[in-house]
Amino acid sequence: MKFFVDTGNIGEIRELQEAGLIDGVTTNPSLVLKADRPIKELLEEICEVTDGPVSGEVASLELDDMMREGKILSDIAPNIVIKLPLTLPGLKACKRFTEQGLKTNVTLCFSANQAILAAKASATYISPFVGRLDDTNINGMDLIADIRRIYDNYSFETQILAASIRTGNHVREAALVGADVVTVPAATLKALVKHPLTDKGLKSFVADWKSTGQTIK
Ligand code: G3P
Repeated sequence: MKFFVDTGNIGEIRELQEAGLIDGVTTNPSLVLKADRPIKELLEEICEVTDGPVSGEVASLELDDMMREGKILSDIAPNIVIKLPLTLPGLKACKRFTEQGLKTNVTLCFSANQAILAAKASATYISPFVGRLDDTNINGMDLIADIRRIYDNYSFETQILAASIRTGNHVREAALVGADVVTVPAATLKALVKHPLTDKGLKSFVADWKSTGQTIK
């Protein structure tokens, strides 16, 4: 399973990239707002830090405008993935960009039927939002499992990019049900390393090593 970091914060991306923990980056309009930077400049800098896939989202809702914006975003760097909303114009734009050899990420997916349409439109990635479904008392991970089964039934090549991932449990469950990618906020991703028994064990190893009076040289 691949790990993308869901952020517009260059410092976070740089740190995780240096640690070898991420395969790519996803952004969205809310993350651009949080970064408080012009979108082109931001995506350009992200693409300098990583050569993995970097999703940048179009802002318009009309097909022609999406096509224009997607082209501008894809011209930033070869690893840009054009992120499009799961609407009819978004799917049309997806098909056209795919025909042009560009990578796409269809976002705001909340049903298996929407995911089927994204695969029919030859999306590179489909982004089902797990946490936001959980917020409505629907198990978001069931959607990932349904899409996995459907895509496998028909050998659809669209990759399942589990989004709106908020907890370590989400990451584990996404891996168990076969998501191709999870996109995770930096803090959630870094927290995956933590385990109280690791901390406890390390504390006693450090103390015992000190008692040996040795140094490794
Ligand atoms: O990738 C989409 C993600 O950023 C949404 O996350 O936590 O705002 O639902 P959240």
